[in-house]
Amino acid sequence: MQDAFDRLSAIAAKHGQSHLFQFWDQLSLSQRQSYLDQLETIDFDQIAKLFSGHEESIDWTSLANKAQSPDAIRLNDPNASFTAQQARECGEQAIKDGKVAMIMVAGGQGTRLGFDQPKGMFRIGPVSNRTLFAMHVDSLRGAMRKYGVSIPFCVMTSPATDIATREYFDSHRRLGLSAEELIIFCQGTMPAIDASSGKILMDSPSSIALSPDGHGGIVSALDRNGIFKAAADRGIEHFFYAQVDNPLVRACDPTLIGYHLLAKSQMTTQVVSKRFPTEKVGNVVSIDGRTHIIEYSDLPESAAISTNPDGSLRLWAGNIAVHILDLAFLIDASKNNSGLPFHRAHKAVPYVDSHGQSIKPASPNAIKFERFVFDLLPLAGKAIVVEGDPKEVFAPVKNADGAATDTPTTAKQAIVEQHKRWLEQSGIHVPDNVKVEINPYWALDVEEVQKKIQKLSNIMVDTYFA
Ligand code: UD1
Repeated sequence: MQDAFDRLSAIAAKHGQSHLFQFWDQLSLSQRQSYLDQLETIDFDQIAKLFSGHEESIDWTSLANKAQSPDAIRLNDPNASFTAQQARECGEQAIKDGKVAMIMVAGGQGTRLGFDQPKGMFRIGPVSNRTLFAMHVDSLRGAMRKYGVSIPFCVMTSPATDIATREYFDSHRRLGLSAEELIIFCQGTMPAIDASSGKILMDSPSSIALSPDGHGGIVSALDRNGIFKAAADRGIEHFFYAQVDNPLVRACDPTLIGYHLLAKSQMTTQVVSKRFPTEKVGNVVSIDGRTHIIEYSDLPESAAISTNPDGSLRLWAGNIAVHILDLAFLIDASKNNSGLPFHRAHKAVPYVDSHGQSIKPASPNAIKFERFVFDLLPLAGKAIVVEGDPKEVFAPVKNADGAATDTPTTAKQAIVEQHKRWLEQSGIHVPDNVKVEINPYWALDVEEVQKKIQKLSNIMVDTYFA
């Protein structure tokens, strides 16, 4: 322990971070050991560069000014090089051949939602009351059933959600997944620093104020947890990536995978047409021939509202955070320490001051650093953008009921409306006041509903098809 103490205290001193050892004499032996372990994870050089701004490799405002509408495969696109049918068949083959795994990012805490457990445990099934995790796993199991193949489900947690997520899956028999199919791994963290001095904040005398390193942390987390190797050994070539907060995601959507393969893309992004210019979604754009996503918070309003001569929105493509990522591309990115820039967020972060007093600041005092997975897009040799129908693919659960958009109520409505459409297209009338919900393990899409419904009978009461 003495060696580690000498080395780390010297590094901290060199970077003006000696305050990290100010409570050392008061710590027990076990506290000292776990504190040194925490310090080992910190890249002091990187923190110094981030504070001085040298690591900022992207100027978002000037990028926003150069941004063009992306070259996308639009819905019912007559100019697309491949039809949706061709894409679907190609994607189905890749799934059947066992080349696809699913990644779900679930490290965020449902702060805006006002939910104090991992968001995946939030109940969203409008009739079934199933959780977000259960909805996603049922969708994946639906694909496994349809294509007769086992598909790994890789769930990325953060230190705040990891234990509760593991306990949830354990106590629910992994929601029907086998032990080999469920892979839970935890993302990394970054220290929060004082915004004016650059000093690393401590949240107790024996611990540093750490926060998740953003969903872009997935690149190094996959590597660190041996998932690249395990995937390669298993013959996986592509990851279907989605966020836990969107219950309309179709797990391993074969059409999207097929477009990705036919276009020889390394990273594919599904988008929807923005509902209104300043919608809180990332803007998928093209800059100097490369695809980028500019987050709503980084996009100047003038760029967000600017229109084409025909009145349509210039930057129309909203990020729904559904991507296909090639394993080989991710491995390359990880060799370059993921190559992703850090985004800064000014936040109010509780800390202990030099007297050991806990301070809860009322206004932002700190900078947190996060990487975003979509910053991989401009690094891809080839990246394509595919438009989806928002009614079929996007109903995120972001805010608590009462907010104008993206609430549990709006998401449940979207699920019921989607399943009503499928039933109506199968010849079954569903009255307006009746709720229906289809478990994807029972039927994945309208074609499967049509095959299942033999005798046509109208539905009079709330019904869950499972
Ligand atoms: C995100 C996207 C936005 C997109 C929208 C679609 C970012 C920065 N923005 O916005 O472009 O239009 O979703 O719904 O991603 N997560 C982790 N670890 C982290 C941080 C987040 O796993 O360290 C996960 C969360 O659990 C969540 C997802 O990433 O599933 C998105 O994070 P969130 O911060 O909620 O992003 P949004 O602002 O909703």
